[in-house]
Amino acid sequence: MEPAATDRPLLIREADPEDAGSIADVLRSQGIFEHIAQEPAEATQARLRERLERSLPSHDTVLVALEGDVVVGYGAVRWMPNLILRETDGYLSELFLRPEVTGRGIGSRILERFDEEAGRRGAERLWCINLRDRESYGRSYYAKAGWEERDIAVFMHRYRRDG
Ligand SMILES: CC(C)(COP(=O)(O)OP(=O)(O)OC[C@H]1O[C@@H](n2cnc3c(N)ncnc32)[C@H](O)[C@@H]1OP(=O)(O)O)[C@@H](O)C(=O)NCCC(=O)NCCS
Repeated sequence: MEPAATDRPLLIREADPEDAGSIADVLRSQGIFEHIAQEPAEATQARLRERLERSLPSHDTVLVALEGDVVVGYGAVRWMPNLILRETDGYLSELFLRPEVTGRGIGSRILERFDEEAGRRGAERLWCINLRDRESYGRSYYAKAGWEERDIAVFMHRYRRDG
């Protein structure tokens, strides 16, 4: 079934701390983050607000997508300079839309904005981790968007058991 279209214009802008509650709602709507499901909504909102207040434009780009005045999704990139590359790398740490607005090109619009930002910063590459059991991987979202899948081992050192 085609997702419902809307006549509300789409706006993509930088997130600010006031968006914390809306971003928390987007995350809760995914139904996959147990720690968020388990904690009171105010606790999630307060944590996100603090993160947004502490985010540094030199290192972070967090974008929200709004239809009318409703935040329907967000994405975040952490810019990661290192000593080997000539220019910075970027890591797309999050890209999430409310389920009812998926499939309408909003994710692609957010990715385009990150492309533009990567261009402004002269970035060499943008990376993301896409778990293979996620629908986005099954539907080849990043491959269709022109991203190259790399055959690399990803290692993680856990500091908390529920992380
Ligand atoms: C993945 C996601 C960001 C894509 O944004 P979008 O606006 O829905 O996608 P677009 O309309 O720009 O592009 C369409 C493509 O997106 C993917 N897509 C669309 N709806 C999707 C959904 N509900 N879940 C996962 N991927 C979806 C498909 O690859 C689709 O191509 P197809 O129709 O040929 O299968 C968005 O669907 C989403 O937030 N999904 C849930 C969370 C998620 O999986 N995030 C990525 C984790 S790294």
